[in-house]
Amino acid sequence: MDSNQVECMIIPMSRRFLKRSFDKTIYKFQDKPEQVLDGAFGIYVHVPFCKSLCNFCPFYKELYNFSQCSKYVDAVISEIEKSPIEGKADWLYFGGGTPNMLTVHQLAQIKDAIQAKVKVEKVGIELLPDVLNAEYIKELRIAKFTKASIGVESLQPDVLKGTGRSVPGKEGIAQLVKEVKYRGLWLNLDFMIGLPGQDRKSFLEDIKTASQLDTDQVTIYPFMRLGKIKTEASLPDKDQYHIMEKAGQMLEKAGYKRHGLWTFSRGNDMYDFPMVEPMHDYLGFGPGAVSSYGQWKIVNPEVKVYLDDWKAGKSRGFVAEKTEESDNWRKFARKLYDMDFTDTSEFVKEQKKVVNLLKKSGFITKDGQLTEKGTIYAHDITKTIIENMPHPV
Ligand SMILES: C[S@@+](CC[C@H](N)C(=O)[O-])C[C@H]1O[C@@H](n2cnc3c(N)ncnc32)[C@H](O)[C@@H]1O
Ligand code: SF4
Repeated sequence: MDSNQVECMIIPMSRRFLKRSFDKTIYKFQDKPEQVLDGAFGIYVHVPFCKSLCNFCPFYKELYNFSQCSKYVDAVISEIEKSPIEGKADWLYFGGGTPNMLTVHQLAQIKDAIQAKVKVEKVGIELLPDVLNAEYIKELRIAKFTKASIGVESLQPDVLKGTGRSVPGKEGIAQLVKEVKYRGLWLNLDFMIGLPGQDRKSFLEDIKTASQLDTDQVTIYPFMRLGKIKTEASLPDKDQYHIMEKAGQMLEKAGYKRHGLWTFSRGNDMYDFPMVEPMHDYLGFGPGAVSSYGQWKIVNPEVKVYLDDWKAGKSRGFVAEKTEESDNWRKFARKLYDMDFTDTSEFVKEQKKVVNLLKKSGFITKDGQLTEKGTIYAHDITKTIIENMPHPV
């Protein structure tokens, strides 16, 4: 087989292997297994409330409701108090949904419940610009949050108007960035490419503007279609990946370093929660939160069932047993995201075969670095993994 033939078969073959490993992850709704943590771990709190629902977003969320939100805070604190966590956690992230739909006082109550049991220094939070202001940022600092990630998505009013989000505008975002940095929090800005109405020119203009802001990290996501999302991307996948590469070059010129396929940051730190799973156990609290420990992957139920279970003193979730095959492919996915195949010693036969084919067809250099076409392959496979990962909520 020559290298062109190998090139044609490598993407469908990798997708087939991945899909087969995901198909074996079967969730059952049942009592949760005992939490046993072995070694380093992280903690994730899911806040499933949003001010409005964006038409591109696949995450588990509900429209904000004051009374449900107050019950949520009590229920999450109770879930944390019952958990046997102890020692030191490597990180704590609040994600969503929109964590800043809660007051900082409510967030601090949850954070305090965690820090009454474990030591943790890195505390990050995802923030929606529309419900963020200088006072809120100041309170976050006082409550000892250390990292913030703002969902910018696009700086173009026409693009945002079609999504159901409000339009903070360039000036609005620039002002929030200033406030976050003034308060000394580490900052990431999320952007997306492929949103309806977005094109190469306006997206690259956004990235140029972002590169001139005082942010520590810029993360760029290709438009992913999963769950019930009906919105179509404005650009074919391959075009999105090439535009992301161009944006990456602009960021690198402006002094950012690539820390992963979609992540560009100024120092050595990064805001990378979604990609850490293969390296770490982690515990998720709150409706829809995912936990991964021992041989288990567990997803908490949606808010209504979560609150009913809390009242009834039950602790149920969607539980799947991890398979060795899916664990192995997660490790492969992590290497792809890190763009580094220098050490493949942990790989099993099937993955070594894929790596050999990737080397043979010029996707990976002999010493394990991704080439230009290897990077496009990495975008495609990473997106395929996220779009196909089974998620019961
Ligand atoms: C939970 S949201 C961030 C917090 C807040 N709710 C907000 O929207 O600003 C996390 C990030 O996921 C990304 N995202 C959402 N839907 C996506 C999709 N369909 N494809 C790719 N990225 C997506 C966006 O960049 C968003 O900022
Ligand atoms: S993108 Fe953010 S604000 Fe929009 S629906 Fe998703 S979680 Fe909510």
